[in-house]
Amino acid sequence: MTRLRVEHADVVVVGGGAAGLSAALAIAEAAAREATADETARTPVVALVSKVYPMRSHTVAAEGGAAGVVGDDDSLEQHVADTLAGGAGLCEEDAVRFVVERAAGELWRLERWGMPWSRGDDGHVAIRRFGGMSRARTWFAADRTGFHLLHTLFQTSLRHSGDAGPIRRYDEHHVLDLVVTGEVVDGGGPAVAGGSPGAQVRGVVVHDQHRGEPLLLAAPAVVLATGGAARAWGTSTNAGIVTGDGMAMALRAGVPLRDLELLQFHPTGLPGSGILLTEAVRGEGGVLLDADGKRYLADYGLGPETPVGSPVPRTMELGPRDRLSQAFWHADRDGRTIPSPDGGVVLLDLRHLGRERIAERLPLVASLAKQFAGVDPALEPVPVRPTAHYTMGGIRTDARGATEIGGLFAAGECASTGLHGANRLGSNSLVETLVVGRAAGEQALGWSREHAVGGGRVTGGAAAAGAGVGPGSVAADVVDRAAEVADRHLAMRGRGTEPPAAIRAELGRVLDADAGIYRDAEGLRRALAALEELRARYDDVRVADTGAVLNTDWATTVELGATLLVAHVAVAAALAREESRGAHQRLDFPGTDDVPRHSLAALDADGGVRITHAPVGGRPSSGAEHDLTDGKSARTTARSFSAAEGAGS
Ligand code: FUM
Repeated sequence: MTRLRVEHADVVVVGGGAAGLSAALAIAEAAAREATADETARTPVVALVSKVYPMRSHTVAAEGGAAGVVGDDDSLEQHVADTLAGGAGLCEEDAVRFVVERAAGELWRLERWGMPWSRGDDGHVAIRRFGGMSRARTWFAADRTGFHLLHTLFQTSLRHSGDAGPIRRYDEHHVLDLVVTGEVVDGGGPAVAGGSPGAQVRGVVVHDQHRGEPLLLAAPAVVLATGGAARAWGTSTNAGIVTGDGMAMALRAGVPLRDLELLQFHPTGLPGSGILLTEAVRGEGGVLLDADGKRYLADYGLGPETPVGSPVPRTMELGPRDRLSQAFWHADRDGRTIPSPDGGVVLLDLRHLGRERIAERLPLVASLAKQFAGVDPALEPVPVRPTAHYTMGGIRTDARGATEIGGLFAAGECASTGLHGANRLGSNSLVETLVVGRAAGEQALGWSREHAVGGGRVTGGAAAAGAGVGPGSVAADVVDRAAEVADRHLAMRGRGTEPPAAIRAELGRVLDADAGIYRDAEGLRRALAALEELRARYDDVRVADTGAVLNTDWATTVELGATLLVAHVAVAAALAREESRGAHQRLDFPGTDDVPRHSLAALDADGGVRITHAPVGGRPSSGAEHDLTDGKSARTTARSFSAAEGAGS
């Protein structure tokens, strides 16, 4: 068995994007407060692990902005109401309120840390309209909000890093899996603070890409902030690193993935590449035209038509994303799109905004359109079509990011807190990363303090001498489990016959074809069979590069395993949801069930995916099970659900 280096931390944060940095900063700030109150207080150690340098995290690609109530005509209740309406019955209201109430506070905190929010002529923070929002409440930094937000968080984290600070960075370290002891109780919900669930996280197994060796980061608490999985689709706004790693880890550890069939298609991507052209274009007054130059959205239920350049909330181009993507699908069917090698396209017209306003508010869009579509948007409309963008579902958590495994938290796109329901409103996710990231970090520190084991040494097993940082001891069985994970992954090198690139390409093709904006049982069954076959091929995947150091052939193949698993869940859950709701539209089940239900995915012992359903607002003691093994979806009405656990429907 591999001899593992072991290091200790109070909390491991996996992911260096906005949610991960927010979690780490929350812990650093708590530590600073404690040190002020008591100078003998021990500084906690936060291991911030990222498979890329943090400034390369996918947050950097967010464009349009982050929602927070500041306008005189706005209110928290209105933001809650808009979010619930967008979510089409699948939001968890406590999670919505939790984020909405804290959103503006987090955005002001960023301001104090140096975030260059765009300003109005009066010097106040500027806000713009976004789809599905009844008021302008989206804060922005031109159309590079994610870049500036990530930069602000990262530069602030540097103040808390290094020898004196709590944050220890593990850049370009690839997390292979969680180490969990005990069993997840079936039907249990997220662990409540101070609860004593059977399962407990013990740390993560990491591959240090620079030293070319595995490492056990032992800790009583772990925050997963690993982003979404929408890169699985062939055409996607997501970076290549958005591979569902944390979702797959949580699923393997026994935490259900919730509502993964709810995949958001962004209506305005560049054809072929899928690169995002932000919704802010439409918030600023851009319009969508069909092949005849007609604004087509009113013909698909998004009217009445509004004056060009004067957008009206929740109408026409400012309708919710799911509705706009669906309208495109119908327009394409009706022969109203322009043929292109990448499928039909419509035109995003912003010429009427003028070059000056485009340069001030939408400089990135202008440069992307020029570079990737060869179009100057001040002179010509830009061809666009919908593209996979955001996984609304994810690791089931409570509003503050707690999962059912003791000490395991999740935040950001990898988590399903219940904020987004069946259709996320644009700009709600960036604030979720900040609010839930912070909450998860604070809770993780609290959990770690309560459950820390003293000793500062390794107690045996396959560990190398414990060159640890921070306090704690680690039991032999934990080290042995970690070594088994490392061995299994390292053994992939130099083996197999199936080229990973071929599996990857086929995955994207299958999802684009059969798990798109509209789905039906026939296509989903085809996709499910394809996923099962791709997972079987992956068992014999070829990793040609046998090197230990910076072996990207191996690392991307490990990522592919996660993506396949998460995609399998998404398709199985889509087949099992026999209704149309929000971003999940079934041609064969156009109606919406009276009672909204979450889907929950679990793994069988043989690696198969099991889907159950549970009411919104409560925790299931047993779900309605769907047998997908014979390619059919079975619906059962038998659901046991305790009202005492908070039935919302
Ligand atoms: O269109 C956009 O700028 C995307 C924003 C979001 O996904 O929240």
